[in-house]
Amino acid sequence: MSEDKRKLTNEVGAPVADNEHSITAGARGPVVMQDVWLMEKMAHFNREVIPERRMHAKGWGAYGKLTVTGDISKYTKAKALQPNAVTESFTRFSTVAGERGAADCERDIRGVATKFYTEEGNWDLVGNNPPTFFIRDVHDFSDLNRAVKRDPRTGRRSAQSNWDFWTLLPESFHQRTIVMSDRGIPASFRHMHFFGEHTFALYNAANKRVWCKFHFITQQGIKNFTNEEAGRINAEDREFHGKDLFDAIERGDFPKWKLYVQIMTEEQAKKHYENPFDITKIWRHKEFPLIEVGVYELNRNPENYYAEVEQSAFTPAHVVPGIGFSPDKFLQGRLFAYGDAQRYRLGVNYNHIPVNKAKSEVNEYHRDGAMRTDGNYGRAPAYTPNSEGVWSAQPEVAEPPLSIEGAVWRFDPKDDPSDDNFRAGGNLWRILAEDKKAILVANTAADIAPVTENIKYRHAVHCQLADPEYGERITKALGLDYIKVLKLAKLNNTALIAATIL
Ligand code: HEM
Repeated sequence: MSEDKRKLTNEVGAPVADNEHSITAGARGPVVMQDVWLMEKMAHFNREVIPERRMHAKGWGAYGKLTVTGDISKYTKAKALQPNAVTESFTRFSTVAGERGAADCERDIRGVATKFYTEEGNWDLVGNNPPTFFIRDVHDFSDLNRAVKRDPRTGRRSAQSNWDFWTLLPESFHQRTIVMSDRGIPASFRHMHFFGEHTFALYNAANKRVWCKFHFITQQGIKNFTNEEAGRINAEDREFHGKDLFDAIERGDFPKWKLYVQIMTEEQAKKHYENPFDITKIWRHKEFPLIEVGVYELNRNPENYYAEVEQSAFTPAHVVPGIGFSPDKFLQGRLFAYGDAQRYRLGVNYNHIPVNKAKSEVNEYHRDGAMRTDGNYGRAPAYTPNSEGVWSAQPEVAEPPLSIEGAVWRFDPKDDPSDDNFRAGGNLWRILAEDKKAILVANTAADIAPVTENIKYRHAVHCQLADPEYGERITKALGLDYIKVLKLAKLNNTALIAATIL
């Protein structure tokens, strides 16, 4: 480092004479206002905290690359998904419920948000480690977060609100089962899969669309912690997962995932036995096999946590030609929510922050706004259409039109006869080995222990509806009456809620 670079300056480059002693009137007298460097130092410090993400507040990030090894060009024209393409990226892992200072090894789902800096603009895939979700209508999202975050009276997390909300929405059953299983506390981010979860669209050079789900399968193998192991680790090192990722990358042990897609044609989707756009449903691998796309690797740590990890901003709304949205009403809600949160959290020009900035050319008509730190497009016209011919729209990238049918209405998926909220959870139970079943039952019993009995019955009934063995074992572990569970299991959802309300 040159001598000049080691010298302290103020915020506009002037030399600072002293950074440790306030200017006072006399050796024991008061501080004077003309100590402007002191004022600046305190004022900046007071403004150094930005709002945390409303959920997924605690997280860790790393840079990487996607290398395409397969050939899915018949499904998508996205350049980043063409054979042999290599695309740089940034990924942030997170827990959901905990605030910015929460411990890493909590029982929770893990968020995995990736920004691919493609030559056609940024593509963000904002997913989680399970392939499904608790809810499926965007209306329920803020409520989910209220239920899993802090109780308004006590300021503490509340198992009661958590389980009350979950069990009132039977569509959360599959996800409840996953979170209570051994996968609810991964041993590290490196040792878990992650998924785009929603159904997305892919369309090819001929503008033919298929539906698609993204799967990232860990090449490190799955490893999880028990409640006891996690409790010990949280007491010793609250940043355990962040350290694990950072250390692995520093020592050159780059974590890798294989990226696969599942593909469903538009025709198959019309005939599918359940709603293929419902995020609480999965597509079975037997019916929609995994198709290899490439290898995803993380290989570089950020230089500055705040600049790169805290200020990173992802949104499912960022797609590139060849990748599109599906009619999933949950995804549709997310398309608005992220940018809106980031305009509040980071400011309207958040896409200018280096970690968020596209590496491809950006030409848009957005102007001005707080912290506009580039040239603001200088003298280029700020309106369109204009006679200078900048910047013209690119109709050749338009997505194929999507036909829809039906009335505009507040549809309740429970009225759809094909809606089965327990099929996937039951299938999961049946493929678990005996030791995993025992862990799932024990974790559930521990987690639900502080909750009132009416809610325990609701969960036990859902387990029963998924698989009688699951129902019986949960009933026993929760100390409930199995005859009562069997009786309640005959009721429809509305009657079950009525029978289990306090
Ligand atoms: C309608 C449902 C949802 C809404 C409204 C919603 C909204 C949000 C918002 C506002 C943030 C904070 C963004 C920020 O401050 O930068 C966030 C973070 C996040 N969400 Fe969602 N979310 C929804 C569902 C989901 C689902 C289904 C997934 C996974 C498939 C998901 C994954 C994530 C992840 C990984 C983050 C953290 C991103 C990061 O690391 O910066 N969310 N969500």
